[in-house]
Parts: sequence; C-alpha cells; structure tokens
Amino acid sequence: MKVDVLLGLQWGDEGKGKVVDVLTPRYDAVARFQGGPNAGHTLEFEGKKYVLRSIPSGIFQHGQINIIGNGVVLDPVLFKQEAEELEKSGVDLRSILRISKKVHLITPTHRLLDAANEKAKGGKKIGTTGKGIGPTYTDKISRNGLRLGDAFHNFDEKYNALKAMHMARLASLDSTPEAEQLATLEDTWMDAIEYLKGFDIVDSEFLINGLLKEGKSVLCEGAQGTLLDIDFGSYPFVTSSNTISSGACSGLGVAPNKIGEVFGIFKAYCTRVGSGPFPTELFDATGKRIRDLGHEYGAVTGRERRCGWIDLVALKYTIMLNGVTQLIMMKSDVLDGFDEIKACTAYKIGDTVTTQFPYSIEEDIEPVYTTLPGWKTDMTGMQSEDEFPTEFKNYIEFLEKELETPITIVSIGPDRKQTIERTKK
Ligand code: GDP
Ligand code: IMO
Ligand code: MG
Repeated sequence: MKVDVLLGLQWGDEGKGKVVDVLTPRYDAVARFQGGPNAGHTLEFEGKKYVLRSIPSGIFQHGQINIIGNGVVLDPVLFKQEAEELEKSGVDLRSILRISKKVHLITPTHRLLDAANEKAKGGKKIGTTGKGIGPTYTDKISRNGLRLGDAFHNFDEKYNALKAMHMARLASLDSTPEAEQLATLEDTWMDAIEYLKGFDIVDSEFLINGLLKEGKSVLCEGAQGTLLDIDFGSYPFVTSSNTISSGACSGLGVAPNKIGEVFGIFKAYCTRVGSGPFPTELFDATGKRIRDLGHEYGAVTGRERRCGWIDLVALKYTIMLNGVTQLIMMKSDVLDGFDEIKACTAYKIGDTVTTQFPYSIEEDIEPVYTTLPGWKTDMTGMQSEDEFPTEFKNYIEFLEKELETPITIVSIGPDRKQTIERTKK
C-alpha cells in the first residue's frame, strides 16, 4: 500500500481540514507531517464547528488512527488545551491518537524568541503566528532541539541547557522576560508535558510503515501551503518547514516510492495572511467583497486575510513541486455572485511576460488576467455536478486545461456535506 498526501497549493487556509475530514472514511489512518499550532484547520458538520491546530483532521470519523508525525513541532500547552476541548465534546482521543517520540517540543522561550525576532525585524517582520515555530525548527536543524522522547530521560538537564541558550539570545535582543512571568509559563508547560506523557507516544515511522505492510491505507495531512514552503515559498516570508509532498517523506518516515495520490487543494481565488509579496492581491472593493463573503479571517490569530484573484502561474509551480495528481477546488461558492471572474495566467515583469514563477516575486509584477463570465447562481445547496451552471463548468474546464490536472472535488460551502465529487473523465 501507499500513502496519499493532501496539501495546500497556495499560502495556506485552502480548506485542508474540511477535505481531510471528508476523505477520512476512505482511509485506515490520518497523519500530520509538518507544522505545528501555527495551523488552523476548520471542520464543520452537524451544525458544529471545530478548529484543529496540532491534532490531525481525521479524528471525527470512525475507527481511524490519527498520527502526529516526527516532522511536527508540538506545544504541550496548546496541545493540552486542544485535546481537553475535544475530549469534552466527546472525542475519545486517547484511543485514536498516536504521537511520534521524535516531534520537537515548542518551549515557552521559543515563543518569546519568536516575538523578539519579529520585533527585531521591525518593518521587515514576517507576520508569524507567534507560536514559536521558527525558533523551534531552528533548534531542530542546529541540533539543539528538545524532542518528546526526551521527556523520559534526563529531561530537566536537557530543558535547562536549551533554556540557557534561549535566555542568552533573548538578552541579546533586549527581550529578557521577567523571572516571575517565565516561572508561571514554565509551570504550566511542565504540567502540560505530564499530560502529554499520558498519550500513546510511539515510533511513528514503524507504525506507519507497518500499517502499509498490512495493506492499510494512510492519508497524510499537510499544514500551511506550498507558497509558505521553506525552500520553494516566497522566502523569507514563509514558514520553517517543508510543506510540499516530500515533507511527508521526511515528516513521517515514508519512502518516496510509497507516495500514491497527491491531492492539491486551492481556493477558487487566493488569500494570504501575514507579510510578504502577493502578485494578484486586490486592494479594492472586489478584494473586500471576497474577504467578507469568504469570511477570510485567520482561524488561529483572527487576522484579516489578504484576498486576490486566483494565480495560475503560482499554481502551475506548486503542482509541479508536489507532483499533484488530483486537484480539489475550495470555496467556489464565494464567487457565486460575481459578474466576472479573473484568473492570472502570466506575470509581466518590466518588458518580459512569463508563465514561470520567478526566483523572487517581490519585484514589480503586473498580473496578466483572463476574464471569464461569472455564474451568478447560488451553488451552496447543489448535490451533484450536473446541477452546476454552464459558466461554472466552463471555469472548471478552463482551469483543468491551464493546470493540466483534473479537478476531482469541488467544495461549495464549509459543511462536510457541501462537497461535490466529480466523475473522472
Ligand atoms: P485550512 O487551514 O486549509 O484547513 O483552512 P482554514 O480552516 O484555515 O480556512 C478555510 C475556511 O473556509 C474555514 O473557515 C472553512 O470552514 C471554510 N471553508 C472550507 N471550504 C469552504 C467552501 O467550500 N466554501 C466556503 N464558503 N467556506 C469553506
Ligand atoms: P494552515 O495550516 C496561513 C504564515 C504566517 C506567516 C508565515 C510564518 O491553517 O493553512 P509561522 O508562525 O509559521 O512562523 O508564520 O506563515 N502561516 C500561515 N498562513 N495558514 C497557515 O496554516 C499558516 N501557518 C503559518 O501568517 O506569514
Ligand atoms: Mg488554516
């Protein structure tokens, strides 16, 4: 058996959580492979709404094992909050969740460093989620990190060594925390470590490969989006992990030849939260209209998401990087009332027109648009693709032709049920 991978093709918040939940019944296990509580994955069903940050989105279906893989960074305090809320709402988390011993832990000083680094960058700040993601992955790569498995051996010694490094760095940034404030944060954190140790902590690489050997199927859930990938995203305005499909290999211990389908998710338009370039961003009434209709506010930070038209130059690039085999289009209903829809098919940079995503998108890019007629139909109650208006079918066909990849699922609302599967041609 192979794993399938589901990931975002834009700057995050494409709707990954919703689709993982919808696809979960087809799988025996769901596994998160990177990122941490910077993610906010929203699921809606039976009139209820949940936002998941570190826990995979496969927990609300029945019988699937959910795995937090080694590529994830975990904040014990936020994990505890999230898990307790889920347990309160009736999810038997302890029986279905497995956590890798090799996840790296986000400490209170990682979060303080995240804030101090941002402050030091001033006007060039990244606009991080403030969850300590960058400093935690920095320590992982520089071989100073603290892993969950360490919580069982000489933990205090390892913790104190890391804390001493962080305190020196915080002092150099003129951001030394008050001793009392830090002590309170640490108490809460140590309590949360004890709570975390009550979960099933495993060698998840053996678990996943064992499942595959038994003929079981696994869906890997990405966080963030490809344009936030540390290598290929809009650097330095990116997150600190590999969000692309190869991240599933290193973040779970799955070999490249074990990857089957790659589901690439995108919105019918485009959004971005935080700083950094965004060629198709709209600063006008249309951008505001998309934000209002799409409720484009961050699930984690509540920040306004920047909105713009779909960018096919960027999508072609992210489809290539991930080896996407099937596309999933989200939030199509948000454009239901528009007279015209625009799609960026090329970038004009100075006198040059290109369809290849450039090294830097921070230069002056003028998007070249193709304009298509809107469908002006409320699609939110539709049950099958036969009901789609002709203009919407044309929009899908146009995208499939441009992107050379089939769109197999179309989402027409936030609820689990507002999902239309297309028959493969
Ligand atoms: P994720 O981080 O990729 O899981 O996405 P988020 O949960 O951060 O953001 C997606 C938002 O859009 C959430 O509020 C979802 O409930 C909502 N959503 C998902 N699919 C659709 C859709 O097809 N239509 C509409 N209107 N909302 C959707
Ligand atoms: P999901 O999984 C959208 C953005 C932040 C910032 C940059 C770096 O819900 O799609 P970080 O805290 O990771 O160091 O911030 O990345 N970012 C996201 N934007 N959705 C996310 O996750 C994001 N996770 C991080 O806004 O620009
Ligand atoms: Mg999100």
